[in-house]
Amino acid sequence: MLSLSVHAQKKNLAPRPPMGWMTWNLFADDINEQKIMEMAEAMVSSGMRDAGYEYLFIDDGWVGGRDNRNNIIEDRSKFPSGMKNLVDRLHAKGLKVGIYSDAAQLTCAGYTASFGFEEQDAKTFASWGIDYLKYDYCHAPADSNTAKQRYRKMALALQQSGRDIVFGICEWGERQPWNWAADAGGHLWRTSLDIRDKWKMLPGEKWGQGILDNFDETVRHGAASGPGHWQDPDMLIAGLYGHKGPTMDGGGTGLSDVEYQTQFSLWAMLSAPLAASNDLRNMNTATKNILMNKEVIAIDQDALGRSCYPAGDSAVLGYEAYLKPLENGDFALAILNRASSPVNIKVNIKDLGLDGKFLIRDLWSHKDLGRSSYWKGSVLPRETKLFRLVK
Ligand code: GLA
Repeated sequence: MLSLSVHAQKKNLAPRPPMGWMTWNLFADDINEQKIMEMAEAMVSSGMRDAGYEYLFIDDGWVGGRDNRNNIIEDRSKFPSGMKNLVDRLHAKGLKVGIYSDAAQLTCAGYTASFGFEEQDAKTFASWGIDYLKYDYCHAPADSNTAKQRYRKMALALQQSGRDIVFGICEWGERQPWNWAADAGGHLWRTSLDIRDKWKMLPGEKWGQGILDNFDETVRHGAASGPGHWQDPDMLIAGLYGHKGPTMDGGGTGLSDVEYQTQFSLWAMLSAPLAASNDLRNMNTATKNILMNKEVIAIDQDALGRSCYPAGDSAVLGYEAYLKPLENGDFALAILNRASSPVNIKVNIKDLGLDGKFLIRDLWSHKDLGRSSYWKGSVLPRETKLFRLVK
């Protein structure tokens, strides 16, 4: 009955995929209050906050252990003013705050975690004003039943904490969370291993997933996605350009703006949470144009909350297309060119299963292309074209 009560008590705290900036890819566990405040200021001054990136997600590395009453405490050498004070300052900037823990005794990076202290930690997070918890699964038993129980336990603790806290499940898609994470009280769940700053895994590589790997693993479970229960293929990597750190492990290469634009387009098509992870304190124009493309963000945040699906058979069509139904009856259409050479194609919209003519809006060039039953053009190597088809 636990599962029913968790589900029944769950308010819809995440009607749209959460958006924000996450500390991990840039800083790993080398975080502190100064860096976080600098990034919060950059979120405001760059326009990111106003474009919808409202959460500042503090990832692994903030914990300093437990006090003599077993309360989880921040590392005071990193957070001299204390977590409550930092959260207040972030809220005053119009941001929400995410924090991180793990369903075992230690986090992935080896810091104190919440197993056995779920209620106490949830109350501490609530007393600090935390709005979101990413709950990792390192050092925890591999079987799915234990994972479900541990996630349920924390979901319930959050629900009884006295504060609305969004719950992000992070067991990397290893126990098919699309089948149980929403029931266990999660508002989103990672579908895949940590994303690296790379296009895709090469044949023979044992680990190190790229954009395409995480997209492919996520899109096939798209039916599980919807308002309040999102699939999370991990952070956005636009603007990292090979920054030394977690995304360069596992064969990271650094990517081009075209490739980063592809990730952003595909994540929007999936209705994925959008967690930027680059240095917002010095972003170039190309990165800003990707992360703050309002028309693409609107596809991601569309109220219907559907994931895209593959449209037509790419082997027959000669190109790879995805469609995403939108709340007002429009469709988003993505054409993905995985190849390292450009392709010239004609996309007949009826081949994708839609009838008639549409007003075709190119969401990267920001141009209306007129009313038509087809689109014809070239797609650059590794580019994704993104269109809104207006009936
Ligand atoms: C795991 C998660 C990452 C990050 C690190 C922190 O690898 O999947 O997203 O939170 O732990 O240690």
